[in-house]
Amino acid sequence: MEGSFLCVINRARLFLSLHILMICFMHEGYSYGVEGKIASHTVSVSSLLPSPSCSPSTSKASTRKSTLEVIHKHGPCSPLVQDPNLINHTKILLQDELRVKWIQSQSSNSSDGLKASAAVRLRAKAGVNVGTNNYVVTIGLGTPKKHLTLEFDTGSSLTWTQCKPCVGSCYTQSEPIFNPSQSSSYANISCTSTSCSQLGNNPPHLIYLKLTMSYKNKLTITPMEVIDNFKFGCGEKNQGLFGRTAGLIGLSDDKISIVEQTAANYGKYFSYCLPPSTSSRGHLTFGKDGGAVSSVSFTPLSKVPQSSQFYGISILGIIVGGKRLSIPSTVFSSGGAIIDSGTDITRLPPTAYSALRTAFRNAMANYTMAPALTILDTCYDFSKENTITVPSITFSFARGVDVDLDPIGIFFVGKASQVCLAFAPNRADSNLSIYGNTQQKTFEVVYDVAGGRLGFGSNGCS
Ligand SMILES: *[C@@H]1O[C@H](CO)[C@@H](O)[C@H](O)[C@H]1NC(C)=O
Ligand SMILES: *[C@@H]1O[C@H](CO)[C@@H](O)[C@H](O)[C@H]1NC(C)=O
Ligand SMILES: *[C@@H]1O[C@H](CO)[C@@H](O)[C@H](O)[C@H]1NC(C)=O
Ligand SMILES: *[C@@H]1O[C@H](CO)[C@@H](O)[C@H](O)[C@H]1NC(C)=O
Ligand SMILES: *[C@@H]1O[C@H](CO)[C@@H](O)[C@H](O)[C@H]1NC(C)=O
Repeated sequence: MEGSFLCVINRARLFLSLHILMICFMHEGYSYGVEGKIASHTVSVSSLLPSPSCSPSTSKASTRKSTLEVIHKHGPCSPLVQDPNLINHTKILLQDELRVKWIQSQSSNSSDGLKASAAVRLRAKAGVNVGTNNYVVTIGLGTPKKHLTLEFDTGSSLTWTQCKPCVGSCYTQSEPIFNPSQSSSYANISCTSTSCSQLGNNPPHLIYLKLTMSYKNKLTITPMEVIDNFKFGCGEKNQGLFGRTAGLIGLSDDKISIVEQTAANYGKYFSYCLPPSTSSRGHLTFGKDGGAVSSVSFTPLSKVPQSSQFYGISILGIIVGGKRLSIPSTVFSSGGAIIDSGTDITRLPPTAYSALRTAFRNAMANYTMAPALTILDTCYDFSKENTITVPSITFSFARGVDVDLDPIGIFFVGKASQVCLAFAPNRADSNLSIYGNTQQKTFEVVYDVAGGRLGFGSNGCS
């Protein structure tokens, strides 16, 4: 698997985490709630904390034909990180809030005034990154191929990278900047052609890109999977804190996105698993080929009015500790919801968030609370605990799909003394809800775009 040279296999750590896994396994399913759901999980506190060293590749990733390894941008497996200890969680959460503002400003329920002012605000704030916070993949581009580490984003259309000669300016990235003149398979598209008018809705950070479109490029997913004639954006005037990544891979449902461009190869079908910790690896797989885990449950995908590039889903309810919260279903339906790979923290209608928070706090009453962490108001000090028992949280999606979150997907971990419930309220129930990436961790999340459905399977990364 490409990229595996980046990591050192640490057998001691592997043994330790297997040990922790076994403990979790033995404890899980201890208590059941009224609806026959698992009511709580008992986990060791250390399993929630980041590990300082990178875990070895999973065997699954290396046996799939069209699979990229997904790693956490800020973890020890990342080629972009200099010191994982310098992660600023406040900054990550503030960036997450900016991304949510951008997504919601695109949706029909946001007033036009807000739409305009949000765009202006973001434009005025030079260096703003409304890309994704977290997950990156490494692809090969051009002939001969050059490795580029890109954020991947189900909310963006265009795949782009910084290009030489950077006539405007390029930000610092960890790999050499792509040089079109050294790629024999590169050609420009004139920006009057339809391809450039199909750029679609992209995050405002594209305000900072001067793009040259290109075609006839080779995109190397794995040595066995090479896409010819791939169109991507070549940015020569770029500003922003893209965290040393070389650009972005756009996975939205939009004409120019990689999903559409590779429709003939992969039938508009992809899946990913976001790893449980910053030190482990997941995958991003194109096509059905060996992609999904054996049992996946599917809920319908829908279009969000006026921002059709997002993947719309229907949330019907939330179950905490085996008990369904009494939230009227209109609370979720009024604003609608999307699933997003680039938003960290799930945003809920305030009515739903408040019911979730109350039930969660009641079940956690025996633990010491800790100060809030920006948008997260329900935090705990676990520094004196070895293991904790947390209520299960299950999301009910349309067509009877119940997703019981992995315990790791319940928390945003600042440090052992500040572990926070990883949900936040929207301003109004009528705002768009976002099912974020913390909650997606460890699941096989399947986007059957052609089939109009989204699937969840457990243990997608193992
Ligand atoms: C973390 O980021 C926030 C917001 O950008 C900033 O105010 C704070 O000073 C940073 N903290 C550290 C330790 O750098
Ligand atoms: C949230 O909903 C309120 C009330 O409907 C609306 O005024 C506001 O524009 C919405 N905010 C966003 C970001 O969509
Ligand atoms: C592509 O277009 C850019 C800007 O218009 C130009 O500088 C560059 O030489 C072109 N590259 C190729 C390979 O045609
Ligand atoms: C938008 O908000 C209003 C209430 O402000 C609500 O009635 C409506 O269903 C919302 N959703 C959409 C998609 O317009
Ligand atoms: C808290 O601890 C007390 C005493 O050990 C126990 O009776 C109670 O059930 C616990 N509460 C919760 C919510 O676990």
